[in-house]
Amino acid sequence: MDFQTFQEAIDFAKEKENGAIHFYESARQVAKNPGSKVLFGEMADEERRHLKFLEELKEEEIESFPVKKIQDLKISQMTEDVPFSPDLDYRQILIVAMKKEEQAHLMYADLAAMTTNARVAKLFQVLAEEESTHKHKLESEYEDHVLQSW
Ligand SMILES: [Fe+2]
Ligand SMILES: [Fe+2]
Repeated sequence: MDFQTFQEAIDFAKEKENGAIHFYESARQVAKNPGSKVLFGEMADEERRHLKFLEELKEEEIESFPVKKIQDLKISQMTEDVPFSPDLDYRQILIVAMKKEEQAHLMYADLAAMTTNARVAKLFQVLAEEESTHKHKLESEYEDHVLQSW
């Protein structure tokens, strides 16, 4: 997939971010565990921040954006898939969310690698690292609250 214009890439990413907001909002509403509700609410806010960034971004601004390098704890990659259901406990919820963020990271990283448009590539690199930040946050939470209680 390639994008003819920067605006097309922005529109595509906005759709993806809207999907992520929708996922976390619905998950927050149905989740039974109170800690999971809070976590999903926070993640929905994070994705709303991405949407706002895409709405306000001017094409020429993207060039000066730093791409952060995020440490990959690889907990998501080493964990079995958990299908979402309202009854999941907090540990399972963290797995669902970290895997979702891993997928979002990979999608944006693939798009960045596929395009020949430098500004589009930079936009997707920035978004890919943003989703890595989310994955890292969830994996750190998993380490603190799950792995240490074993
Ligand atoms: Fe996002
Ligand atoms: Fe995310």
